[in-house]
Amino acid sequence: MDWGMKNRLSKIIKPRDGRTVMLAVDHGYFMGPTTGLEKLDEMINPLLPYADTLMLTRGALRNYVDPVTDIPIVLRVSGGTSIVGKELLHEGTVVSIEDAIRLNVSGVAYSILVGADFERDTLLGMTKYIDEAERYGIPVLAVTAVGKDMAKDVRYLGLASRMAAELGAHIVKTYFCKDFEKVIESCPVPVVIAGGKKQPEKDALNMAYDAIQAGAIGVDMGRNVFQSTDPVGMLKAVNAIIHKDVTPKEAFDIFNSNKK
Ligand code: R5P
Repeated sequence: MDWGMKNRLSKIIKPRDGRTVMLAVDHGYFMGPTTGLEKLDEMINPLLPYADTLMLTRGALRNYVDPVTDIPIVLRVSGGTSIVGKELLHEGTVVSIEDAIRLNVSGVAYSILVGADFERDTLLGMTKYIDEAERYGIPVLAVTAVGKDMAKDVRYLGLASRMAAELGAHIVKTYFCKDFEKVIESCPVPVVIAGGKKQPEKDALNMAYDAIQAGAIGVDMGRNVFQSTDPVGMLKAVNAIIHKDVTPKEAFDIFNSNKK
């Protein structure tokens, strides 16, 4: 692995413990003004001290983030379909590698959907982008999803995660599931979990803890942070699970004490 690739990966995954707290606020690229992100800058500015990496689109980066920032950026570079369209996640490349370089990103994120008629398009799109990104030493985070009729279980999430790694992704993002350690064991690159739909804070903290115990290196969490009743408290609590190995109960106490 070349120096640039290693250096960028070390901006995303903290070398001190090999873990990462990624704050995902890229939802607007297919969901528009998502609840909590209507004024994206107002939401994320107080959160940045507790995030290791910010994952978002180039439009959000340019319009809402001060270029004089030291938060490493993972830029979403796939898109093209919306939540109200007929083929959600039938994505292709929406940002050139040159623009990703111009924006000085530490990594890029590309979605694949395994188990849909158009899976081949997303897999080839990601693979082509990996070839381009490797030319410049930029790591690619594969955002994995499985077809809507497929269970989000160890079989299908394990399949999509392993495929993403075999196709060359440097980090894989997937959903947490029962027997998650099997997904980790069969995926040769670091795995982070998405938060998914908003759930009670206690449950989201339990999920983050269980994912770390199973071998995930962190989270790439969005709605469970920015739709929380206390986003800063929630991200502080998640950060403590990832970097300080606190229990879910201790993390929930951190969340509650922040409110006070
Ligand atoms: C989904 O494709 C987006 O990349 C989101 O960033 C991702 O799902 C993580 O956000 P959340 O924790 O809200 O699921």
